[in-house]
Amino acid sequence: MLIHNISQLLTMKGGPQRGHDLGKLGLIEQGALLMRGENIEAVGTQDELLTKYPDEPRLDANGKVILPGFVDPHTHLVWAGDRAVEFEMRLEGRTYLEILAAGGGIISTVEATRSADYQTLFAQTRARAKTMFRYGTTTAEAKTGYGLECKSELDQLQILMDLDKEGPLEIVPTFLPAHAVAPEYKTNPDEYVRLICSKMLPAAREHWVKHAAGKPMPFVDVFCETGAFDLVQSRRIFETARDLGFPLKIHADEFDNLGGARLAAELGAASADHLVKTSLADIEALAASSTVAVALPCTPFGLGQSEYTPARQILDKGGLLALATDCNPGTAWCENMQFVIALACRALKLTPAQAIAASTINSAAAIQRADRIGSIEPGKQADLVFLSVDDYRHLGYRFGENLVNTVVKKGRIIPI
Ligand code: NIG
Ligand code: FE
Repeated sequence: MLIHNISQLLTMKGGPQRGHDLGKLGLIEQGALLMRGENIEAVGTQDELLTKYPDEPRLDANGKVILPGFVDPHTHLVWAGDRAVEFEMRLEGRTYLEILAAGGGIISTVEATRSADYQTLFAQTRARAKTMFRYGTTTAEAKTGYGLECKSELDQLQILMDLDKEGPLEIVPTFLPAHAVAPEYKTNPDEYVRLICSKMLPAAREHWVKHAAGKPMPFVDVFCETGAFDLVQSRRIFETARDLGFPLKIHADEFDNLGGARLAAELGAASADHLVKTSLADIEALAASSTVAVALPCTPFGLGQSEYTPARQILDKGGLLALATDCNPGTAWCENMQFVIALACRALKLTPAQAIAASTINSAAAIQRADRIGSIEPGKQADLVFLSVDDYRHLGYRFGENLVNTVVKKGRIIPI
C-alpha cells in the first residue's frame, strides 16, 4: 500500500542520534511511503513514489504528519491495584523513600499483584497496553518486578509474553526481581540477592529459552538506589545476568547517586535510566559508552519534584538520550509518550524535534531494536503514527489531548 499526501514525513533516518545531533528528523515535505507486508519498502516524495509505483493501492493521508510509532523504553506495565492513598500521603509531606522503608511503596503493589489471579492481572495490564497504543506507542519495554519471588516473577514475564503475542502493542520484556528487597528478606537483603542470582535468573533464562521461540533474551534490570540495592549487590546481579546471556538495564540516580550510571557504562548496559542525581563525571562516562541515557520526566513530575535529568549536559557531553514514561503505579502512572514529549520540552529544555528523536530512534536503541524500529526506512518494520495536525511541532507544544489519529503496526492499520 502506498500512503501519499503526507504534509510532513518524519523518517528519523540514519540511526541513533548522539549529542547535539539529536533532532535530525529526516523530514520530507509532501512525502509518501510504500509498505509491503510488515515492512517499509520505499520512502520519498509523493511525486517520486506515485510515478514509480502507479499500480499500488493508495491511502490518502489528507495532509497529516506521519512519524515512526513511539518506542517507550521503560515501563512497569504489569501490576494490580493502585496507590492513590500514597499519592495523598506524599502531598501531606511523606517522601517516596520513607513510604518504601515503612513497607509501602513498591511492596504494597507487590502484595496486590501477588494476590491477583492471572486473568485479573492480564486484564489490568492489557488495559494499559491499549491506552499506550491509542496514544501512538507501537513498541514498549515492560518490566516484571512486582512479584519478588520466583513464581510470580515468572508469571509476570509470561503475561508480558502473552500480551506481546496478542498485540498490537509489541512488548520487549525485562526481568526485574531486583526492583525491591522481597518482604520475606527484609532483614537479610544479601540472601535475597543470592536467591536472585542462584535461582531466579537461571529460571528466567530457562523459561525464556523454552517459550520465546528464539526471540532475543529479555533485559535484566536492577533498582540501584538507597533502600533498594546498593552498588555491590547491583554488580553481583548484573555479572550473573551477563554470564547467563541477558542484556542489561539499570535504574540509577533517581534519588541518590550510588554509582549505578558508571557501572552501567562499564558493563555495556543497553541503558541507564532516571539519571536525576548523576554527576558530570558519570555523564561523561556514559557519553563515552554505548549505553543510552533514558530520562523519565514523568517521575519527578509525578512526585511533585523540581529536579529533572540534566538532558542538556548529556547532549553537551555527546551522550545518547532517550525518553520513556516509566509507567508505574507509584511515581508515574502515565501511558502517554506525547505527554512525555511535552514535559521534556519544558523541564528538560528539548526542542520538539529532539524530543521526538529521543522517543523514536533513540528509544529504539535503548532497547537494542534500532535495526528494526524507530525510523521510517526501507527494510524496517512499518510502525507508523498519523497525527491529526499538519506541523510536527504540535507534539510538545500541545498537551493533554491525543494528537494521534491513526496507528499502523507491522503494516496494518489498527483501529484505535
Ligand atoms: O521507576 N524506581 C523504581 N521503580 C519505579 C517506581 C515503582 C513503584 O513505585 O512502584 C520508578 O520510579
Ligand atoms: Fe522504573
